[in-house]
Amino acid sequence: MATAIRIDGKAKAAELSEKITAETAALARDHGIKPGLAVVIIGEDPASQVYVRNKQRRAAACGFHSVKHALPEDVSQEDVLALIDDLNGDDAIHGILVQLPLPGHLDEGAITQSISPAKDVDGFHAFNVGKLALRQPGLRPCTPRGVMSLLHYYGIANRSMHAVIIGASNIVGRPMALELLLTGSTVTVSHRFTRNLEDHVRSAELLISAIGKPGIIDSEWIPRGAIVVDVGINRLPDGRLVGDIDFASAAQRAGWISPVPGGVGPMTITMLMKNTVQSAKQFAGLA
Ligand code: GUN
Repeated sequence: MATAIRIDGKAKAAELSEKITAETAALARDHGIKPGLAVVIIGEDPASQVYVRNKQRRAAACGFHSVKHALPEDVSQEDVLALIDDLNGDDAIHGILVQLPLPGHLDEGAITQSISPAKDVDGFHAFNVGKLALRQPGLRPCTPRGVMSLLHYYGIANRSMHAVIIGASNIVGRPMALELLLTGSTVTVSHRFTRNLEDHVRSAELLISAIGKPGIIDSEWIPRGAIVVDVGINRLPDGRLVGDIDFASAAQRAGWISPVPGGVGPMTITMLMKNTVQSAKQFAGLA
């Protein structure tokens, strides 16, 4: 049986990272600018700790000014907002990221919207979401941007394709739908209230799963030759990291498939770096 082409996000991310590092060196040399990224992490969520560590490592490797603010689990909303206010006014910082999810007592919406849109390298602020919805340039959410970059890299022309996104989150599903619409796909977004998930999956030419739970999609539903992008990152009880989709069985049906780990994850971090450079250039009047 045919086996799908593996979409190698790790390799593409490494290649892009080199370009970003070179661009950062040129910004320092020619304009005296160093992109600055502030990452805020609240509490002890182990997955968030890993993601933040990876983001910081990459920022340092790219030559950025990189700072981490670790706040305790029981920090008050006022203290978080005060920190963001400081960072909004800090000239050495061009990108601010508050790692999600937040502890339950904090108002995620208010915190996300308190970040200056010009420093919103996650692209979660209403201003930037609005820009994307209106097809205008702005800071775009990193995971959907990373998926679009991978499709482009593999020469996958999504225009006119039926793209089926599973999951309607603010971080992935919704902005993913807007990116795909922008580039001419016909988009279906399914979510927890969707009836007949199987029928939608069976009609996908491009399937993007962002559920965060393995085992919901039966690989038998995947149309032969479809492009499968797995955004889910799930830690199994035995410690293994898997996506939403069973890679081995899906690879027997798909035309292209992204693995977990090594697929979309590294691209998300890379797009964060790209957004931070974009923001630094914008502040310097170079963009
Ligand atoms: N949690 C999971 N993904 C993300 C992301 O892309 N950005 C932030 N800030 N938090 C996340």
